Amino acid sequence: MIGRLNHVAIAVPDLAAAAATYRDMLGAAVSEPLELPEHGVTTVFVDLPNTKIELLAVLGEDSPIAGFLARNPRGGMHHVCYEVDDLEAACAHLHARGVRVLGDGRPKIGAHGKPVVFLHPADLCGTLVELEQV
Ligand code: CO
Repeated sequence: MIGRLNHVAIAVPDLAAAAATYRDMLGAAVSEPLELPEHGVTTVFVDLPNTKIELLAVLGEDSPIAGFLARNPRGGMHHVCYEVDDLEAACAHLHARGVRVLGDGRPKIGAHGKPVVFLHPADLCGTLVELEQV
């Protein structure tokens, strides 16, 4: 059902420092910061030959990553995102097998303008999983 790894997201306390780490220490191509107020994050994308790394920092009051950063003040791996062809079908398949879709269980338009859902980490090896329809 799942296809390519779309990205790995890393939550960071200092986005400029994290972008500099990937650009200057690791020699990667990094994007300019992009504020996504409706998602409560500012993102920087790191383009790798086979996938992307998404650096996430808090934006605004109700950021969904604020709690994670409170528990992981130096930052850490936040979620992995897998591509699927049909998100509705994927959700039905997972729901039937007891995997919980976070929020109201319905796909939302994600940070890249495509439908996404997030799946409960306790149901998937302790890892927050995002599915993105491509
Ligand atoms: Co993501």
